[in-house]
Amino acid sequence: MYNQNPTLEGIGKKIDESKQGEVFFQGQFTDQGGAKRFYIESYGCQMNFSDSEIVASILGEAGFRPTRNMEESDLILINTCSIREKAEDTVRKRLRVFDKVKEGRPGTLVGVLGCMAERLKSKFLDEEKLVDLVIGPDAYRDLPTLVAGAEDGEKGVNVFLSREETYADISPLRLDSNGVAAFISIMRGCDNMCSFCVVPFTRGRERSRDCFSILAEATDLYNKGYREVTLLGQNVDSYKWENPESGQKVSFANLLEMVALVHPDLRVRFSTSHPKDITDEVLHTMAKYENICKYIHLPVQSGNSRVLDLMNRTYDREWYMERVDAIYRIIPDCAISSDIIAGFCTETEEEHQDTLSMIEYSNYSMSYMFFYSERPGTMAARKFEDDIPQEVKKRRLQEIIRLQNQISFKHNQNDIGKTFKVLIEGDSKRSDQDFKGRNSQNKMIVFPKKEGLKPGDYTTVKVYEATSATLKGNIVSE
Ligand code: 5AD
Ligand code: SF4
Repeated sequence: MYNQNPTLEGIGKKIDESKQGEVFFQGQFTDQGGAKRFYIESYGCQMNFSDSEIVASILGEAGFRPTRNMEESDLILINTCSIREKAEDTVRKRLRVFDKVKEGRPGTLVGVLGCMAERLKSKFLDEEKLVDLVIGPDAYRDLPTLVAGAEDGEKGVNVFLSREETYADISPLRLDSNGVAAFISIMRGCDNMCSFCVVPFTRGRERSRDCFSILAEATDLYNKGYREVTLLGQNVDSYKWENPESGQKVSFANLLEMVALVHPDLRVRFSTSHPKDITDEVLHTMAKYENICKYIHLPVQSGNSRVLDLMNRTYDREWYMERVDAIYRIIPDCAISSDIIAGFCTETEEEHQDTLSMIEYSNYSMSYMFFYSERPGTMAARKFEDDIPQEVKKRRLQEIIRLQNQISFKHNQNDIGKTFKVLIEGDSKRSDQDFKGRNSQNKMIVFPKKEGLKPGDYTTVKVYEATSATLKGNIVSE
């Protein structure tokens, strides 16, 4: 059922891992010669990076070969993000760069994939004259056909959103792979309709992927030497799948357990959790299996109940605090991280203070922090005025960032003297004498190499130093 393609080998490079919203990478590949070549860049959330691996697989099956060099490619693809205005600005800037390549190499096709393609649809072709293809997140199977049409001069658009598509049968071509950690997409779309968010419009209705195909993918990754999988979805806690033959229902807690049982040496992570949906059953499953990582990304967005109501998050401050209490009660060593939006419509100074106090209450190990950016078509854009001045939004965001940095620093300082099981991911950024790897709590630890150890191995590291971003340690004998 899986389309293995051993001749394609993906190794890519993520340029900026710190900014979840505007992450960028280029695919880097071995050149196979002869065949038509594609180049792909991705922006936005982990789901986009995961989708690019599906796109690469579809194109590989259609006879295309990947290249790291856009100047020699026949097809330039950009997988786009619409979550904030800045993300869209970045994409438009990249399109200008692609235009230059096209001038020097007529016949090169440029395709826009992902959320911006879905949001702007055929308008893209009018706005950006040199774009040849516009393909939404559920239409990637159509890519080879649309490319063939575009080669004959026919610009192509497919932004059909599906209620069924999960690409379950497609084995992603691992881009940006360190051979140790990989993403597995377990569901698509989002039904939550948070009022600030464009995702339900760009990624369509929520649907869960067949759990057997997820297990097959996890097993295949383990057999290929991977030691960590991250189960991806906009709201993983609402994963639900029913076996059409047996009628057996599979919840997220069930799925988590099944993936944990693939192998005790395969670490399992997941993202993103929604505070309204994360159940005690999930928390108990996490506590039960050592290889389910003790880390939850639980976006709060705001610490104030009135703002949360306007955001249509469907929980209030007390509910969120209760979930945080439950996490620390059931999994005492769990780390929690968050997404936070500063300056949502009508937010007062007191309400902003509630967000600050929530950061302290939750003791987040880290957060992704943004100021509110109105997105056309969302409920907030239609119903509320974007009335917080830009300087106020920025100042509130700075206060949030400053506090989070302090809390992250304390959180990390608290790890000094502790020992952790670390999965080695590769050389540290600064020195090839050091390895980097993560502990279960998703913290990066840098430590001197020891002979005989390689990426994909586990080792035990004792921490002796900490900044707000990284831990330093030494291997201790097990
Ligand atoms: N403005 C600012 N941040 C946003 N996010 C989503 N939509 C917006 C917006 N319109 C943030 C949320 C979400 C994360 C992925 O991006 O915090 O959790
Ligand atoms: Fe957007 Fe809310 Fe869905 Fe997340 S849960 S993708 S913030 S609508």
